[in-house]
Amino acid sequence: MNTIKKLLCAALALLLLGAPALAEELPAFGVCIYDGTDTFMASLRLHLETYAHGKARLTVYDSRNDQNLQNDQVEGMLEAGADVLIINPVDRLAAGYLIEKARKRQTPVLFVNKEPLLEDLLLYEHAFYVGADGAQSGRLSGEILAEYFLAHPEANKNGDGTVQYVLIKGEPGHQDAELRTQNALKPLQEVGFRVEKLQEDTGMWRRQLGQEKMAGFLLAWGDQIECVIANNDEMALGAINALKGAGYFSGGRFMPVVGVDAISQAIEALRQGSLLGTVFNDGEQQAMAAVDLAILLAKGEEITADTYAYPISGERFVWIPYQRITREELTDP
Ligand code: BGC
Repeated sequence: MNTIKKLLCAALALLLLGAPALAEELPAFGVCIYDGTDTFMASLRLHLETYAHGKARLTVYDSRNDQNLQNDQVEGMLEAGADVLIINPVDRLAAGYLIEKARKRQTPVLFVNKEPLLEDLLLYEHAFYVGADGAQSGRLSGEILAEYFLAHPEANKNGDGTVQYVLIKGEPGHQDAELRTQNALKPLQEVGFRVEKLQEDTGMWRRQLGQEKMAGFLLAWGDQIECVIANNDEMALGAINALKGAGYFSGGRFMPVVGVDAISQAIEALRQGSLLGTVFNDGEQQAMAAVDLAILLAKGEEITADTYAYPISGERFVWIPYQRITREELTDP
């Protein structure tokens, strides 16, 4: 082990094991967040900390979008004797490697937000994923668009029965980016529209990049664009900024834009009428489901319908449903 790793282990041991006597009864959870600057993950982290309060001792690491750093963090947490790991992998395909490490130590491991492959989860009986089904969120954002185009024939600006769209994708390879992209158009097709992709590019989940990509799409396609699909709200809000810069959302010029997550600024944009719809990615329930499962695993208790409130599907998956939100569906519009 190199010096940095040794130091990391010593610091972790202090954090995980050196907590006050009273807390010693509580299980120690080692948590890694793939990138602390990600809006959705920052809120999921808060939910984990809030819900685990008084139930477990959490040590949380920001992996700063660096899989090597995360591997070291995981190794350090295992060495320090964490009872359970909760990992938001930088690269979901790295989960197999981390699961092997956890299995060797017989330390249960839960993944959140970035879904490992089933074959990797099956490497160890105490490896699970708690998350939401990316395909469902894609469909729900598409349903909002389909309803809008049915109710507003003028939105099909050139009247050709084909919806010309641009798509701002999340991180390529992230299951949510792939599945949202694959499923968002289906509802429009199911109600009889043809769809034509004018352009697609990745905004890597970020608002600034979303804005830049949208500005480029507007330069290339201008008024031919009939709607904007963004894989998350941050990028949708970036797109809205670019659209505002091009004169949309004033003087009767509208562009349907959909996102995913239902972050607070997106709800604000829904109220103001710039964002057409979003899909609630329930980080609070994801955190609750992860912490409850981690506690059972730490205690070595059986996971049954009596001990655990969330159904386990496909042996290793806990799915928290998404929920669509438009302005009309806001409880307090
Ligand atoms: C969220 C994105 C977030 C990403 C991080 C997705 O589920 O919708 O907002 O950036 O996870 O991995």
